[in-house]
Amino acid sequence: MGKKVTVVGAGFYGSTTAQRLAEYDIFDTVVLTDIIDGKPAGLALDLNQSRPIEGFETKVVGVTTGVNGEGYEAIEGSDVVVVTAGLPRKPGMSRMDLLEVNAKIVRQVAENIAKYAPNAVVIVVSNPVDEMTALAQLATQFPRNRVFGQAGVLDTARFTNSIAETLAVPVKSVKALTLGSHGDTMVPVPSRCTVDGKPLSDLLPAEKIEELVVRTRNGGAEVVALLKTGSAYYAPSAAAARMAKAVIEDSGATLPVCAWVDGEYGISGVYLGVEAQIGREGVKQVVEDKLTDSEIAGLKEAAEAVRAKQADVANL
Ligand code: APR
Repeated sequence: MGKKVTVVGAGFYGSTTAQRLAEYDIFDTVVLTDIIDGKPAGLALDLNQSRPIEGFETKVVGVTTGVNGEGYEAIEGSDVVVVTAGLPRKPGMSRMDLLEVNAKIVRQVAENIAKYAPNAVVIVVSNPVDEMTALAQLATQFPRNRVFGQAGVLDTARFTNSIAETLAVPVKSVKALTLGSHGDTMVPVPSRCTVDGKPLSDLLPAEKIEELVVRTRNGGAEVVALLKTGSAYYAPSAAAARMAKAVIEDSGATLPVCAWVDGEYGISGVYLGVEAQIGREGVKQVVEDKLTDSEIAGLKEAAEAVRAKQADVANL
């Protein structure tokens, strides 16, 4: 059977993710689903009509699903499922304000994934992502390596972009990293940031680095405040699509993702933003690297913050 990826939720995040995945031209099929009648089919038709112009062969299939799982047969045989279903934030909201409403949606989606695509690797992006990832694992009962979340690739890209703009260098000169939660306890990691191999701390004063760290932590809110309706999707979809690509190509790439942590950095039993090798089975291995004491303390603080919330989702 050919390579197949499903994107659940055909909103801004889901439709741009489907577009990027189709344009990679590495899947046979991209399935795009939503609960809104006609929307995924319309977007799929539109994307397919772009194929002769962009020059890709991947077929996009749009399917409307019902409250009782109608339509989910279409996801059968998916190698990867990206979950984008759920409400985005409005200005002034934190991602945590979406917890209850999105938990209901993600639970229902996850149960259908378990039923119709029991061998899929699941990438969760719905917010609050650390909690929704934990919930998707609970609701699917998939092995923990096969369910992980998108946050770190995006947060790292935001950090990288800010550093590149500040120093007026190409983005490709900058190596950066963010770990921790996708929220207030995000842990941008300046000790792992370099520009053309030089430590960031040699190029910028500590106050300026702290400013960039704070901006990274608020990166999503900054976009939401400008858009006023809805949240970011270009950079987020780029991140999710790259992760799905790493899975299907079994690349073994080390990416910052929301993964199950089991002893790394002295932290256990929680989904948290860490670096991990990604491949055909999802998370191959969490990668523990050298961090400063204050970065490790930040990571532990993030773990405790998300641990409490992740316990709550079991009852949502
Ligand atoms: N099954 C499938 N799709 C659903 C379901 C469901 N049970 N419930 C809602 N949806 C769909 C909506 O119909 C809508 O088309 O999810 C889509 C969400 O799209 P947008 O409102 O455009 O939101 P988007 O910007 O795509 O963000 C989606 O990603 O970054 C996060 O915080 C963001 O949680 C939000 C998610």
